Amino acid sequence: MSNEYLLVKKSPPLSGTVELVGAKNAVLVICTSLILTNGISILENVPNSADVLLMIKLLEDLGAGVTFEPEKKLLTVDTRTICKFEVKQEIMNKMRASILVAGPLLARFGKAKVAFPGGCLIGARPIDYHLSGFKKMGAFIETHDCFIDLTLKPYQELPKLTRLVLEYPSVGATENLMMLAALNKGETEIVNAAIEPEVLDLIDILTRMGAKIDCSQGQIIKIKGVDKLNPVRHYIIPDRIEAGALLLAAAITGGSVTIPDARADHMDLFLEKLRAMGHKVITGTHATHDNPHRGITLTATTTPQAVSFKTGQYPCFPTDIQAPMMSILSVANGTSLIEETVYENRLIHIKELQKMGAQITRDGNTKATIRGVDALYGTEVIATDIRASCALVLAGLVAQGQTKITGIHHWRRGYDKLEHKLVAMGALIEVVEEL
Ligand code: EPZ
Repeated sequence: MSNEYLLVKKSPPLSGTVELVGAKNAVLVICTSLILTNGISILENVPNSADVLLMIKLLEDLGAGVTFEPEKKLLTVDTRTICKFEVKQEIMNKMRASILVAGPLLARFGKAKVAFPGGCLIGARPIDYHLSGFKKMGAFIETHDCFIDLTLKPYQELPKLTRLVLEYPSVGATENLMMLAALNKGETEIVNAAIEPEVLDLIDILTRMGAKIDCSQGQIIKIKGVDKLNPVRHYIIPDRIEAGALLLAAAITGGSVTIPDARADHMDLFLEKLRAMGHKVITGTHATHDNPHRGITLTATTTPQAVSFKTGQYPCFPTDIQAPMMSILSVANGTSLIEETVYENRLIHIKELQKMGAQITRDGNTKATIRGVDALYGTEVIATDIRASCALVLAGLVAQGQTKITGIHHWRRGYDKLEHKLVAMGALIEVVEEL
């Protein structure tokens, strides 16, 4: 574990024009989708984050040839040499997204051997929806103490039509099952599917590979299996969660920011909550012919008001912006209520914000009441997950004095040097190597 930490000092109002990186939660699943093809694909707008580097290692372990040019945000993947259907346990344990190779490996080889991806602090994060879907689609599943053997039945025994109804619109389960269905026999319907922008970006690339996917009915996705999928060139959608972080950084410091490539239509309810706080949010500032909602400018209010919200599946308030939003509400006027409905334990950052003087009380593991205070105070805090690290950076930008944030590997996992963009906007933040 590195002994680096983030040192954040009380900063002036942040302002500037910032570009987004490609969405972490799109690029990871899109990397696994390339396993369905045999050829050289090129991904553009790829962020240089720790999770992307780990995904590259996973693909190379399977035998793929991968070239990453971070300065060009270009990832070239040659899948013709993929020869393995087993993923190393040490990779599975490090990144939840590694479970997303199960569907593509099953489709390519008729078998897959993966470890349980493990939970993390925000929740147990089981994969029961993935496994029950694979079973209905004709896979035998043998679970051992820490890994799973999946084997597809012989082609002639596979169902011609499979209807999968998800108990919850799981992003990962929708993606995994859709990737198997794309290169499988017959037709698969996924009901109560996730329709997050990152899922739609996956559907976009699969369709351009030659998959037959109908998502015109929203949360009912119909897939007709084909015999072959072709390599493609694809531009990863901008990261709406990074956009949220940048907007909140400007808002909490009383500044302003313009994000030309932000997709306002990917974050409607979050933007509505910023407006309800009193911030001025203009969208479509950089509209193009095919995207009237492109571009967001925020000008912060000096008297931010409390707002309440609960997280949920898209298009509800995104769970991945819940922690950063809690930071800004900690110094708003009034009392806010937050309910986290996606994960059973995604309020761990409360304890760290309380160390900084935030007045937050929990009601169980999913509800929080935030009473805005006049000031937060810098101290030493620990980042407990990717989005908690962002929440603590935001709090550090307005806290008196300086804030030392350890657990920097979380920050590295989810963001591509976001601290550089914040510094360019005027933030006093640096990465310190502890000797
Ligand atoms: C994706 O995780 C994202 N990760 C998460 O982002 C994001 O928070 C989440 O979707 C929800 O939007 C990636 O795309 C790599 P889910 P995923 O399956 O697919 C339960 C970040 O910070 N569940 O929609 O794992 C699960 O425990 C990360 O970038 C089951 O019970 O999310 C959770 O409570 C965090 N059984 C809920 O559903 C299953 O088989 C939502 O999970 C699958 C999920």
